Amino acid sequence: METGIGDILAVALPAIVLAFALVVLMVHKELGPFSGISTGGKWMLTLAFSMGVLAFAFKMTVALSIAKAPEQLVAPVLAAYRQSPVTPLKDWSNVYNSEPLPLAYTWQPLPETAPAPADNPTTPEKVALGKRLYYETRLSGDGKLSCASCHDLYGKAGGDGRRTATGIAGQVGGRNVPTVWNAAFQSVMFWDGRAPSLEEQAKGPIMNPIEMGMPGAAELEARLAADATYRDEFAHVFGSGQPITLDLVVKALAAFERTLITPDAPYDRFVRGDAKALTPAQVRGMALFEATGCVTCHRGPGFSDASLLGGQMALRFFPTNATPYEARYNLMADGGATNQSGVRGIWRVPSLRNVALTGPWLHNGSVDKLSEVVRIMASAQLGVPIDEALPSARSVVWSPEERVFKRSERRVLTERDIEDIVAFLNSLSSQSLVAKAKDSPKS
Ligand code: HEC
Ligand code: HEC
Repeated sequence: METGIGDILAVALPAIVLAFALVVLMVHKELGPFSGISTGGKWMLTLAFSMGVLAFAFKMTVALSIAKAPEQLVAPVLAAYRQSPVTPLKDWSNVYNSEPLPLAYTWQPLPETAPAPADNPTTPEKVALGKRLYYETRLSGDGKLSCASCHDLYGKAGGDGRRTATGIAGQVGGRNVPTVWNAAFQSVMFWDGRAPSLEEQAKGPIMNPIEMGMPGAAELEARLAADATYRDEFAHVFGSGQPITLDLVVKALAAFERTLITPDAPYDRFVRGDAKALTPAQVRGMALFEATGCVTCHRGPGFSDASLLGGQMALRFFPTNATPYEARYNLMADGGATNQSGVRGIWRVPSLRNVALTGPWLHNGSVDKLSEVVRIMASAQLGVPIDEALPSARSVVWSPEERVFKRSERRVLTERDIEDIVAFLNSLSSQSLVAKAKDSPKS
């Protein structure tokens, strides 16, 4: 690949320069003198004629970036391309549970550290300040709420265990509190993905009139600056002479949140090589999680395609297919990122890390059984029915026109499959959080 780039460059660069010089020469020396066009006009013409050169340069850039793209990006595309459309004839029916799955999806453990943006490196001092701010009730208008009031790190696995949030003066919000654990791996924040980073996210609840209800940044800054210990700590972390600002407050909070990660789930031990870390039901659930198609959206080490670790499609429609669930759980009242109601909403794919500990579930907290969420996902997101009578089946049919075997698959989940998927979701719970979570809703 290295020589490929060199070769392309060696030809492409001189070619572009030469072509451009030719156009300049043509317009200014050959065409210019006879046409009576002004100098500005000549350069406009030069530009117009150079479009071809630019297009060429653009194509070269695309070619080069593909050649330079990391293995992980290119390999799956190539693999898909190389896959033979013809499969050996075989009776696929009733092999759903015994047939090895296609080797398409690689399971990954959670990294031991979370990535940090260049302008907010994670340092131990900043993390300590962020932790203090996380529990600081002076961040709320009435001095009664801190981040931890709604995001109880240990008691409720980073959420509040309620259907929807309760903010300042007991005001009830419309959305469920997502956990802050592993939020550091998400590429966009909030159920609808409207905040692009942890830093931006943290400004939301502080200023939100029904959450922490802080009247304004100046008030917050004045309150913290009135405390000598905060003045010292901010000076120590961000440099002396630096006034305490909302921007620095959220930087410290975000740095602390980047340490709230849980790479200690049984799932992680399993994929790191401990074959006994999962029960047989959990392994079966894991295979079903892939085979049913949950990995289309809940993929990667964070089980979300809205991930900083190579996520590709952060937002998805939900509920995608019409099902009786949408009326039962009022799933269309809030349209998420569409900002409309009564429509199929657009939502960020949430991480499923610790999901068994963070019920009730979904953006409106309307579902309090994890097995029910799996049923909703299977039917509303994947069109897979839950049925005992109708077994899953794969079939292979010869198509004489195309001279290929057409594979078709009828997927159905049984109640036992649902149980196994739930068992697998339980394996995504951090062991240290499980040990500390009290009276979280059981599924
Ligand atoms: C009144 C309850 C409440 C308080 C207090 C609160 N939050 Fe939240 N938090 C929420 C709710 C509700 C959401 C989801 C809102 C949405 O998606 O529209 C949320 C979302 C988040 C998220 C996004 C997680 C994700 O996966 O998208 C993070 C991170 C977060 N809060 C951190 C904080 C921090 C830091 C503080 C303190 C500055 C804080 N929260 C204070 C209720 C609260
Ligand atoms: C097409 C994308 C897509 C597919 C496929 C999908 N999900 Fe989801 N999933 C989502 C979205 C989007 C949400 C958030 C829904 C909301 O905002 O209420 C979600 C939410 C969830 C939740 C609730 C998370 C929480 O914190 O409340 C669970 C559990 C879940 N999915 C499991 C699954 C399982 C199991 C499967 C496979 C049967 C699956 N999902 C398939 C997109 C998908």
